[in-house]
Amino acid sequence: MKLSFAASLALALAAGAGALAQTPPMDHMSMPMPTSGAPAAPPVAGTAVKIDNFAFGPVALVVPVGTTVTWTNRDDAPHTVVANAGAFKSKVLDTDDSFSFTFTTPGEYAYFCSLHPHMTGKVIVEAK
Ligand code: CO
Repeated sequence: MKLSFAASLALALAAGAGALAQTPPMDHMSMPMPTSGAPAAPPVAGTAVKIDNFAFGPVALVVPVGTTVTWTNRDDAPHTVVANAGAFKSKVLDTDDSFSFTFTTPGEYAYFCSLHPHMTGKVIVEAK
């Protein structure tokens, strides 16, 4: 009896916390998106990043070390792919142009488009 009462109390508390969590924090909602920092999207395995509609897709790519990643511009506008820390830097990519880079060192490589710095992405390179 004691245990089930405690369990139901815990459930009630959890339900209450869930209801609170569903209330959006208004000050956060009105804040502009940060222009730097790690994107929140979960990483996607693969070797290709598409540039379309002024965005990198997937925003976060995960690859094993030694992988060559290719970015292809499918947008009407020109874009670049530039690593924040300088590991790689493409030329200006016109529509259907590609840029490739081989990752030989594990780590997280944040990058952006130098023409539109709000365009950001990252490649997570995992050790084999
Ligand atoms: Co761009």
